[in-house]
Amino acid sequence: MEQSAKRFINKHIIITGAAAGIGKGVARRFADEGGKVIIADRSQESGEAVAKEITESGGTAAYIRVDVADPDSINELIKKAVGVFGPIDIAVSNAGISETQSSALEISVEEWDRVYDINTRGSFFFCRACAENMMNNDTKGAIVTLGSLVARSAKGMSGAYASSKAAIIMFTKTLAKCLAPMGIRVNCVAPGIVATEIYSGVEKEMMMEKDSFADWLVEQSIASGQLLIPRCGTAADIAGAITFLASDDAAYITAQNLSVDGGMDWCW
Ligand SMILES: NC(=O)c1ccc[n+]([C@@H]2O[C@H](COP(=O)([O-])OP(=O)(O)OC[C@H]3O[C@@H](n4cnc5c(N)ncnc54)[C@H](O)[C@@H]3O)[C@@H](O)[C@H]2O)c1
Repeated sequence: MEQSAKRFINKHIIITGAAAGIGKGVARRFADEGGKVIIADRSQESGEAVAKEITESGGTAAYIRVDVADPDSINELIKKAVGVFGPIDIAVSNAGISETQSSALEISVEEWDRVYDINTRGSFFFCRACAENMMNNDTKGAIVTLGSLVARSAKGMSGAYASSKAAIIMFTKTLAKCLAPMGIRVNCVAPGIVATEIYSGVEKEMMMEKDSFADWLVEQSIASGQLLIPRCGTAADIAGAITFLASDDAAYITAQNLSVDGGMDWCW
């Protein structure tokens, strides 16, 4: 893919959930454009592998373990990240999980809390901790959160996941309002379907006789005329939007939710 000029030289970028899937693609893109990237993830082996891959290809990256469900772990992450690359310029709150139950009627209290602890509470406290670091250093930074297509279009499944993502859109706007006077922008990117491990639990639980739940969703959406760009999304598609919103190209954009979903319009 042809890339624009290196927009992130000397910028310190911290990305949660960067050991796999979309986050990994986002980390690579920031590093390709000259950024110094912290791979923050609870999965140590994969996180270290991503940092190594970036470093070996000439980029700058380091892995730091975090469990975003634990606010103390988030605070520790920020401290360590600042120790490695200095004050934070850009934060991407990407770590997220989906519940495995197929229906909103079936979800247990434990599963609901697990999804909210990571997706909503984890994302909020990570963004706020990064914002505090930016304010303390007078950094005119940028924060990008990850919403989802299902935050605006119900499918009768994923009650916790969908509502946790809808909450992210609103706290993104709230933070954007609080942080605008300090020159910090906050935006959300809402992916459509990207075939990653996030679907693996759902596949098993729903026992669908499909190789890939994501592929099945894409097939259904194309067949029903609801996916205008008829293919599955990629991590690179999402990384393009996230790096745009984090860059000076988006200097006049804040408090927005940008859908990156192939023009999907679900209503089934
Ligand atoms: N894949 C899609 O179709 C899709 C669609 C819409 C939104 N999203 C959102 O994009 C983001 C990335 O999803 P993905 O598809 O790449 O998922 P993924 O499962 O491939 O990767 C998620 C990463 O987050 C990490 N993680 C999970 N819980 C964590 C925790 N408590 N602390 C730290 N790290 C943790 C995992 O180890 C993993 O590396 C999520 O917020 C997800 O909700 C994905």
